Amino acid sequence: MAGGIAEVVARAGMRAILRARSEASAATAVKQVTSGLARQVDKGKLDAAERDRILANITTATDLGALGACDIIIESVVEDLATKQQLFRDLDAVATPRAILATNTSTLPVVEMAKVVRQPERVCGIHFFNPAQVLPLVEIVRPITASDDTINRSVTFVKAIGKDGVNVLDRAGFIVNALLFPYLNNAIRMLEDGTASMEDIDTAMKGGCNFPMGPFALLDLVGLDTSLSILDTLHASFGDENFAPRPMLRKLVAEGRLGRKTKAGFYVY
Ligand code: CAA
Repeated sequence: MAGGIAEVVARAGMRAILRARSEASAATAVKQVTSGLARQVDKGKLDAAERDRILANITTATDLGALGACDIIIESVVEDLATKQQLFRDLDAVATPRAILATNTSTLPVVEMAKVVRQPERVCGIHFFNPAQVLPLVEIVRPITASDDTINRSVTFVKAIGKDGVNVLDRAGFIVNALLFPYLNNAIRMLEDGTASMEDIDTAMKGGCNFPMGPFALLDLVGLDTSLSILDTLHASFGDENFAPRPMLRKLVAEGRLGRKTKAGFYVY
């Protein structure tokens, strides 16, 4: 997701610093961006000069200090609150006071990240969708602590990168995941029950609702570990059984079948 976000920002003519814990993971993210752009050049959708301009806007770093002059910092690490909170504490120490500190969390309470920094008013959610380069939506999530200035500047930023922003309060799942994940979870229940095969459920939802992909293909795209943590958070927040992650999802995650990124999830790639 981080590479996709960096590409979107760079495409809009802004400089993006892709910060990762290791040179290797930063290089992998840039490699993904580079090969995505190369495909577009091959298809005649992007010219080589534009590709070079986009890539020139992206630099990498491992040291958090490299983010010191950024106007906006978008955290996109693993969906684990303690990890995110530690990162926000570290960002608080290096970021310029005017910077917005945003999280790309899918479901975790944004206020929990805001409360560990010295200026909680500058924290909000800026939530992209997979694949970030393609999907137009960004949810701008307002925790109770955020200032109008933080939200207004985030709205302006989202417009400037060419995305469609929607405003939402800081409730688990925001808009999209709160509505999408009961559907995905119930598709797994239907498979467990033996009502239909995975392929037929996917075909049914594509052909019957004109969705671009069926629920199992989508779960594999999002990542089964990410999907499990989203459902766990939604279930803990709302207590609704539709959010209780299905055993088959837990089993696949325990087996390391995390979806497209591990080349196997519900499907094998
Ligand atoms: N990364 C970058 N670009 C990608 C991509 C990827 N993983 N997958 C596809 N694309 C690009 C292709 O290059 C292509 O670009 P051009 O039109 O410029 O050539 C375009 O997307 C269409 O791709 P394809 O023609 O190969 O395939 P498609 O028409 O079947 O589209 C799809 C693929 C865009 C993924 C489409 O199936 C789709 O929109 N699926 C639904 C995705 C969705 O619902 N996402 C939300 C998930 S929920 C979430 O993300 C929330 C969260 O918090 C976890």
